[in-house]
Amino acid sequence: MAVSSGSQQERVGVMLVGLGALASTLVAGIEAIVRGLARPIGSLTQLYRCNGDANNALLLDVLPMAKLQNLEFAAWDVYPDNAFQSAVKAAVLHKDTLELLRGRLEELRPFKAVVDGQNQRRLKGQHVKTGTRLEQAQELEREILAFKEARGLDRMVLVLCNSTEITLEMGEEGQSIKKFEQGLKADCKTISASMIYSYVAIKLGIPVVNCTPSQCLEVPALARFAEENGVPVAGKDLKTGQTLLKTILAPGIKARYLGLTGWYSTNILGNRDGEVLDDPEASKTKVNSKLSVLESILEPERHPELYRGFYHKVKIDYYPPRGDNKEAWDNVDIFGWMDYPMQIKVNFLCRDSILAAPLVLDLVLLLDLAGRTGWKGIQDWLGFFFKSPLLSRPAKPIHDLFQQHGELEEALLRLRKPKEPVPVQRVAAAVASH
Ligand SMILES: NC(=O)c1ccc[n+]([C@@H]2O[C@H](COP(=O)([O-])OP(=O)(O)OC[C@H]3O[C@@H](n4cnc5c(N)ncnc54)[C@H](O)[C@@H]3O)[C@@H](O)[C@H]2O)c1
Repeated sequence: MAVSSGSQQERVGVMLVGLGALASTLVAGIEAIVRGLARPIGSLTQLYRCNGDANNALLLDVLPMAKLQNLEFAAWDVYPDNAFQSAVKAAVLHKDTLELLRGRLEELRPFKAVVDGQNQRRLKGQHVKTGTRLEQAQELEREILAFKEARGLDRMVLVLCNSTEITLEMGEEGQSIKKFEQGLKADCKTISASMIYSYVAIKLGIPVVNCTPSQCLEVPALARFAEENGVPVAGKDLKTGQTLLKTILAPGIKARYLGLTGWYSTNILGNRDGEVLDDPEASKTKVNSKLSVLESILEPERHPELYRGFYHKVKIDYYPPRGDNKEAWDNVDIFGWMDYPMQIKVNFLCRDSILAAPLVLDLVLLLDLAGRTGWKGIQDWLGFFFKSPLLSRPAKPIHDLFQQHGELEEALLRLRKPKEPVPVQRVAAAVASH
């Protein structure tokens, strides 16, 4: 289906659930880029050059994606801090940079958060909605519609960047949208805040991206609702830091037919996300999300002589002095010719939100475009951005970053302007280059 035209001039609302480190870094970054104070490093939508294009064209000149200056932001948070205060507390960006952007950031004040009474147990914020799940959903819907009206928006994308939630066992309320709606009415305890945000967005035809490890878009009721309502959704848990490196390194080990006996990963982080992850239940959700990648890349069932029974351990520790500047250590035990053992040590001193913010920008622009193209339901081709890529069908997700990049490139070719038909061989070239 053709992408609707004239769309680059239209205003797109970025509805941020959670105004913490990641969201405030995103908003500050986009404002700085629009003012010419910063460069969009790490963003595929801003820097990708079309494969095989004689003019080396930038993707943003070829695909009718929304312009950064036409993005408007709304947010919800359990704390009332505006984006400036939140960014200062998160301490990702230098105070001097934030001062330059202060006015614009102070304008972004969060609405009261939807809460479910059991998640984010470590947070003390009182800036929350009251009432049953259904009443909170209705209030959220009114806020979204009023925001759209007040800002004259053409479209919106909802971004879940709230704290990691604990995983709850769902019953029938997760199986169909009718049962889910009955569950909202009955204030069913297994319906989390993230599910309520997602439900309202899908109901309003707004694409949803889940940047967190929390369960919501994969709940069958909501996944089907997105499909039926013609809404594209994507998740989950952005692939940054240690997992990013793991999915770069592991395909290389495999490509060289080296064996693996164990991979030990540990992290320290001191931001609010780390504080929430100090709760063992929330940490379980995140660790599971990080654990899944190696099996899928190495395929021990296909290569038992190299990978059968390898030991994989992931630890996350909350360590306040580091703030958002996460540090990750990996010890990788590999073996080579004649079974001789070797070790790889990786020490990544990264900035989590600096790695994550460009991914959120890309996801917003690409989901908005996908929605205008008529693509609906879970968007498998966006797996490149996630630690635990959601799939629209029962299958094993791809975790190898290069394979994911190939899938993304193929989809980008399909999204290109209809007036510029894509030669078949270019699809092949895009895939072959990886
Ligand atoms: N920062 C990154 O680089 C990164 C990378 C990958 C994944 N993630 C995931 O993204 C999410 C956000 O990360 P962050 O670093 O910004 O964390 P953060 O703790 O700084 O921000 C999360 C915000 O969500 C708010 N919140 C909690 N419950 C809420 C609710 N029910 N409604 C609205 N707001 C709510 C919190 O008050 C907080 O301000 C986390 O789940 C994290 O695991 C972040």
